[in-house]
Amino acid sequence: MINLEKAKLLKQLYQYKSFGFEYFQDNQTLGTTQNQPSVNSLDELEHKVKQCHLCQLAKSRKNIVFGEGDEHATLLFVGEGPGANEDESGRPFVGRAGMLLTKIIENVLELTREDVYITNIVKCRPPNNRVPSVDEASVCKPYLMEQIAIIKPKIIVALGSTSYHYLTEDYDMPISKIRGEILEFGDAKLIPTYHPSFLLRNPSAKKEVYADMLKVKRLL
Ligand code: URA
Repeated sequence: MINLEKAKLLKQLYQYKSFGFEYFQDNQTLGTTQNQPSVNSLDELEHKVKQCHLCQLAKSRKNIVFGEGDEHATLLFVGEGPGANEDESGRPFVGRAGMLLTKIIENVLELTREDVYITNIVKCRPPNNRVPSVDEASVCKPYLMEQIAIIKPKIIVALGSTSYHYLTEDYDMPISKIRGEILEFGDAKLIPTYHPSFLLRNPSAKKEVYADMLKVKRLL
């Protein structure tokens, strides 16, 4: 094993240890859904994330963006990572894309942001809003899996290709091909759709997201 791989594995093992794992089976991967969270509440988990320095994003963040909404939400939205507004405020999806997501939740799903839970693949802002690296996503993903284990959503909506790819590790699948499919993800259904930022740049894709959200609404 080369040194970089060893360092990555060590980092990963330390993170599992911080979650309370005492042993590690070598067939257990970061992509596995954890059914049993190592903490009792999202508040406890957020406290851990606030202290996280496992990747370089910790150096440039102003705030962690843990997520917000109903701790027992049936519906969970997973975006890519915080942008400038989110880094500043510590809240997910509060910029232009967030306003569009809020409209979708309210007008199509006929819910409020407080009824659902909203979070991201990575909890710290990637500089210049670049896509989170595989390393950054893989050290942060256990936090997301813990959130899922605590919330126990019935439906997870992956917002955009980065969210879909890192959630499923199905890296070769284009979001345009998989969006709107109802997939199995642990105990939840996973429905990938386009990211609201993509919709801001490509308003004609709103009709596809509308159709995907009608599917979500039927499954709720
Ligand atoms: N884009 C995301 O993917 N997440 C946010 O929180 C904001 C914008």
